[in-house]
Amino acid sequence: MSDTLSIATLQNTDWKGTLKQHFGNFVAVTSPARSRFLFANPISQPATLRDKAIMAHLKRRAIKLDQQDFFERLHAEFWSGEGGAVFAENCDHRFEDVFLAKQKVDIEALKKVWSGIQPEHIVEFGCCSGLVLDYLTRKLPEVKTAVGIEINADQVKRNQAAGTFDARVKFEHADGAQWLLDNGQPKTLFVSNGGVLEYFRRERLDEMLRYISSNLPQTVVFAVEPVAADHDWAQLKESVPFGDELSFSHNYRDLFESNGFDVVHERRIEFDRWRMAAIIATVKH
Ligand SMILES: C[S@@+](CC[C@H](N)C(=O)[O-])C[C@H]1O[C@@H](n2cnc3c(N)ncnc32)[C@H](O)[C@@H]1O
Repeated sequence: MSDTLSIATLQNTDWKGTLKQHFGNFVAVTSPARSRFLFANPISQPATLRDKAIMAHLKRRAIKLDQQDFFERLHAEFWSGEGGAVFAENCDHRFEDVFLAKQKVDIEALKKVWSGIQPEHIVEFGCCSGLVLDYLTRKLPEVKTAVGIEINADQVKRNQAAGTFDARVKFEHADGAQWLLDNGQPKTLFVSNGGVLEYFRRERLDEMLRYISSNLPQTVVFAVEPVAADHDWAQLKESVPFGDELSFSHNYRDLFESNGFDVVHERRIEFDRWRMAAIIATVKH
């Protein structure tokens, strides 16, 4: 297996790992109130040895018992805090190095699809510093509104203060799923780039996509999301936590097709330790 992030890497435990597991189980059993609290309110960067041990235990248990809601709470805690606030600083180079350099084929495919649909709105989930949203908006002069939805409040404030975006581009601090259910409109190009849907559990993605396909005609979704190198979509429909972050490797083909979409473009992009799936899906007629 290469270094590309996979499901299998989670299962390799050496003797040190086994020892840590025993310690984590012991601490969790002897601190039941704290364990219950951390299950309901997980923290991504625990400060004390006790919390570190309990969090490691809860993560292992959540993988075993498929407790996707636990991971979703953990990811939301990470991204709405300091982790999310500094992401742009470290990763904005991906706009040039990955989006513009490696996703040309996908952007061309998207242009063909949108020229058929002629979207009036763009919504980007997890837009971070807004570079992709601004780029796509400028390519679509007929678009009336462009909204970047971001769970990190500091990032949204920075974007709102920047003054560098196309005049149609606006930013809102919200959870992507909730925003969609409250505000989604027909004739929209929905975007998630560089890994955003990977932080939503499958049940919520099903709800989002069913809502779009039932209520928002003439819609297109452009998603570029990491998947585990060993997630064989022909064999496994289920979502599996993977990699260092324990985000979800979803079966995006099944996700879209089982929720009323046609997948009209699908491609893999490799960079660093990531394998990304680029998907364009339109609502079935
Ligand atoms: C891996 S980063 C990708 C950022 C950007 N799309 C890019 O390509 O560089 C994930 C982004 O999604 C945001 N995010 C995570 N969960 C979210 C949620 N539930 N609702 C809205 N944004 C979310 C994070 O704050 C972060 O900006």
